[in-house]
Amino acid sequence: LKKEVNMAKKAEIKWEKKHLLGIEDLTVNEIMLILNQAEKFKEILSRPIPKIQALRGITVVNLFCEPSTRTRVSFELAEKRLGADAMNIAVSSSSFIKGETLKDTARNLEAMRAEMVVIRHSCAGAPHFLAQCIKGSIINAGDGKHEHPTQALLDAMTIKENFKTFKGLNVSIIGDVAHSRVALSNIFALTKLGANVTICGPKTLIPAQIEKLGANVTHDIREALKDADVVNVLRIQLERQTESFFPSIREYANCFGITSVRLKKYAKKDVVIMHPGPINRGVELAHDVADGKHSVILDQVTNGVAVRMSVLFLLSQRKLVEK
Ligand code: CP
Repeated sequence: LKKEVNMAKKAEIKWEKKHLLGIEDLTVNEIMLILNQAEKFKEILSRPIPKIQALRGITVVNLFCEPSTRTRVSFELAEKRLGADAMNIAVSSSSFIKGETLKDTARNLEAMRAEMVVIRHSCAGAPHFLAQCIKGSIINAGDGKHEHPTQALLDAMTIKENFKTFKGLNVSIIGDVAHSRVALSNIFALTKLGANVTICGPKTLIPAQIEKLGANVTHDIREALKDADVVNVLRIQLERQTESFFPSIREYANCFGITSVRLKKYAKKDVVIMHPGPINRGVELAHDVADGKHSVILDQVTNGVAVRMSVLFLLSQRKLVEK
């Protein structure tokens, strides 16, 4: 533990934040600190015993009020790999269904000495609200259509592994941007890091004035693919769409789906394909592209554990130093 406390003391010089609520709040140095620390944790994860005790004695609650596979399991694994006491709350088996408020739930968790809360919620701003209700650190695991910061960080880590740098890199984000928290967090992260970001999709799925965030906008898939080093394909979020944004799934796939034919015709030979998951196979992404040589989708998932370890470690360091 002494080694980890020393590690924390060193990191403390550079890391000040108590919460991770979004990428918008982070500086370039903070993003790079998370990515560099994640690379160290990735090495630890490749060891025969992939576990350290950096968060020993710290209780982390994973409060998921929306479905999740990757993020929930990844956070839980990250917490366990760091030696924390990880607790999971699923809405369906909690007192939320009896009408308990988010604030009351959080304060009860605090009364049981939960020091960190990882929250996914369908309402934008829920993690920010929680940060005002309790004393512990809050990590946003996806809030409505707002932000999904650890997804953007694991995406950035995967890009860095492939290209070493972000400066001048062309990243196209294609699909349902309007309903996507992944898109917003990626735009914040990648523009801060110096990449050129292009957003592409049907007009109905691209928010007005998104170019003010520093992204280029096109509705032509050929243009989005032409110079892209990275294509990050977004899921069509039918569960968030309360009205029809395109005539049919088939027409969307025909116009914007990423297929091997389309890649061969319009994309660079060594283009990297990403997707945050879950994939609608045959809609935004063809099977053979999802599983093909350009795809780094499962590398993203692997990197998610290291990135979440890094975030948990950096946020918890003050606690460790105090002890
Ligand atoms: N990418 C992502 O957030 O996946 P889950 O919804 O499965 O967590």
